[in-house]
Amino acid sequence: MRIAVGVTGASGAVYGYNLILLLSRLGIEVHTVYTQMGEKVLEYECGVTIKEISKHAKVYANDDLFASLASGSFKTDGMVIVPCSMHTLGALANASGGNLLTRSADVTLKEGRKLIVVPRETPVTAIHLENMLKLARGGAVILPASPAFYHKPKTLDDMVNFMLGKIMDVIGIEHRLFRRWGE
Ligand SMILES: Cc1cc2nc3c(=O)[nH]c(=O)nc-3n(C[C@H](O)[C@H](O)[C@H](O)COP(=O)(O)O)c2cc1C
Repeated sequence: MRIAVGVTGASGAVYGYNLILLLSRLGIEVHTVYTQMGEKVLEYECGVTIKEISKHAKVYANDDLFASLASGSFKTDGMVIVPCSMHTLGALANASGGNLLTRSADVTLKEGRKLIVVPRETPVTAIHLENMLKLARGGAVILPASPAFYHKPKTLDDMVNFMLGKIMDVIGIEHRLFRRWGE
């Protein structure tokens, strides 16, 4: 299995980092692209550099539009953008593939593959909502970064894992990241 992970400069860098670790531990080929702000927020919030990420995933430069991820002929089993800033959300909603992250996402949709977008902002404006609606209509799964409490989280990891579990559910990978309702 091969999954692309795009990470932007929204808060919640831990979601992207932990998802990359999780997928790579499962033996899944992970192809990753960070925006410039994505890298900065990763360092600020997690104290982790892109060099560390490259131990677990193939990392591409966001301005490398010659990269394999930029072409629909390079097959993936889907792409997750986590966390997704309102800036990148706007670009995605307009199918503007000006950098590798937005181009890869656009390619994912045009090829009919799964695109999971995890927006992180609050409150949101009507413009943000319209962008999400446009993307959802275009075939993306909008999976807001809004961890639940019904599984009685005790740690930050429990809350992060809830979000990762929801992402894994959409990708279609079995997991035990949180206790399901009724279990
Ligand atoms: C610490 C930090 C946290 C941020 N959190 C958010 C956020 O949660 N959502 C968001 O849309 N933008 C957030 N921003 C602003 C984005 O980084 C900024 O809009 C940037 O242009 C996004 O660029 P990108 O989409 O290319 O990563 C944050 C910025 C900083 C410095």
